[in-house]
Parts: sequence; C-alpha cells; structure tokens
Amino acid sequence: MEYTWETLRQDCLQCRKCALCETRSNVVFGVGNENARVLFIGEGPGQNEDLQGEPFVGRGGQLLDKMLAAVDLDRSKNIYIANIVKCRPPKNRDPLPEEQDACIGWLREQVRLLRPQVIVCLGRIAAMKLIKPDIRITKEHGVFWEKNGVWMTATLHPAALLRNPAQKPAAFEDFLKLREKLDELGIA
Ligand code: URA
Repeated sequence: MEYTWETLRQDCLQCRKCALCETRSNVVFGVGNENARVLFIGEGPGQNEDLQGEPFVGRGGQLLDKMLAAVDLDRSKNIYIANIVKCRPPKNRDPLPEEQDACIGWLREQVRLLRPQVIVCLGRIAAMKLIKPDIRITKEHGVFWEKNGVWMTATLHPAALLRNPAQKPAAFEDFLKLREKLDELGIA
C-alpha cells in the first residue's frame, strides 16, 4: 500500500496494534515540514504530548526548541519531529520492545515519505532502535554514521538534560556539529 501523508496519518490515528491504544488520549503522529530533509526522532509521548497530540510540547520540548533555534532549525519550517512510539506509555515508562515493534512500521512509512538526508535520534531508546542496539549514548552522542545513504546521529534526550543540566553544553556541541553537517550537505 502506497501511503500519502494524509492516508498515513488517518490510519495511524486509528491504530490499535498494541495495548497503548487503550490508555492514550491522542495518537502523537508527528509534526513539521513534510518536505524537510532533517528528521528528529524521540522515544514516545509524555503526558503533555498525549494531551495535545504533538511531540515535544512539555518542558523538554521547550528546551529542544531553544537548541534547535540556536542552529536555525524550527519545527514549523525546516525539520520534522516524530517518535518511535506514537502513544504514551503509562507513567512515562520506557516503551516496551513489543510496543516499539508494533509501532515502528508507522515511522518507517514516515521515513519513506520524507526521505530525510539526516536523522537525529533524541536519547537512548531511539538511538538503540535506529542506530545500533548497543549504542553508548554518553560516549557516542554527536557521532555521525552513514546508513543506506542517510546520515544518522544521536544526542542526549532533552528530558535527561532537564534532570542533569551539566550535560547541556555537551548536547549543544551536538547541535553545532549537526549544523556543520547540514551546511556541508547544503540543506536546512
Ligand atoms: N519525549 C519524547 O521522547 N518524545 C516526545 O514527544 C516527548 C517527550
């Protein structure tokens, strides 16, 4: 089945592939420019995202938006933001492997439509799923890998930065490296 953004969104909003559908308020499909070449991927919605139906709208999201703005990136202009799982895991626990596996097909379709040149994983869960299962995010954040013609990198999760502000400069370095990569590729 060939999806368009609209048919993909419609099907995803009806999803009942895992038990998270029972407790969600909203499916958090994703947000941003559907023609962007840069895709950010988080782990899953928290409470604010579940209530508003948009990724990264809580305190972590505000911090993310600030770091994005510092390198001329903006969810309403030149990037797209999605999550590994589209529905909130209760009490903000990590999404279970079976929930990730049930949901990942939606993200794959989003990637197929977007055809990003750069994918930025926000935090360990996304990095493990998309870059490599044994990634050490504290050591390997800011590193770029090329996979099937797409540049992949990971940075620290904004929620981790709120818990541990001493890591903010390291994360900011990752955003500066990202800007260098985008300039090199002539995108965004
Ligand atoms: N954390 C995530 O990983 N994704 C969101 O959308 C919000 C918080």
